[in-house]
Amino acid sequence: MPKKLDLTENLEKYIIDHSEPLTDVQKEIIQYNMSLGDQQRLQISVSQAQFLQTLIKISNIKKILEIGSFTGFSALSMALALPSDGLLISLDKSPEFSIKAQSFYKKANEKKIKQIVKPATESLNELKDSSQRFDLIFIDADKENYLKYYEASMDLINKNGLIVIDNVLWHGEVIDDTKNDKFTNIIREFNTHIKKDSRVAKNIIPIGDGLTICIKK
Ligand SMILES: C[S@@+](CC[C@H](N)C(=O)[O-])C[C@H]1O[C@@H](n2cnc3c(N)ncnc32)[C@H](O)[C@@H]1O
Repeated sequence: MPKKLDLTENLEKYIIDHSEPLTDVQKEIIQYNMSLGDQQRLQISVSQAQFLQTLIKISNIKKILEIGSFTGFSALSMALALPSDGLLISLDKSPEFSIKAQSFYKKANEKKIKQIVKPATESLNELKDSSQRFDLIFIDADKENYLKYYEASMDLINKNGLIVIDNVLWHGEVIDDTKNDKFTNIIREFNTHIKKDSRVAKNIIPIGDGLTICIKK
């Protein structure tokens, strides 16, 4: 077996620096999120954003649904990778975060993003009723509802579409037997659910806090 790479912080910086460069507004969102203190951890990592952009481009994705916008970094990053006739609907229950996110979309002159502000389960029901379908659904909101969001996504995703879920390695705690708190167990149960789900092909990618890519059969 080849030697495994130790992905240090400096190596990660090198990878980011030699991958798709960030736009000024992406950089501005990161700066803004850093000013929020602890909450900055809600944002996906830069290498995750770059990876999602590649995924969108190689899969010819046109329609994206995001569950969990925060201040708009992941939504803007994904929208930048869409073709000009693409659409990204982003869901968040927080009016404060959504207003901020929309101000960044406007600054970036990004018109492909539609923001919906209400609890995600309500939006998901409405989207199902409206018969909308998506090529990629990105789940990155409250962990307690991950399973609900995943099951709702099954009704909204196209055949061969991708359901991508963040935080599936939960800072590595999923394999730590001494960790038995509520959130670690929610993520473990969620990962087991996907493992057993024959409706999708799946792969966990160890970037950021861990991304699962599910391909709807
Ligand atoms: C981890 S953050 C999303 C980060 C974002 N994807 C990014 O990379 O910048 C989770 C978001 O989910 C939102 N959220 C939490 N519970 C929610 C719910 N029940 N319905 C909709 N949004 C929710 C929070 O307001 C927060 O903005």
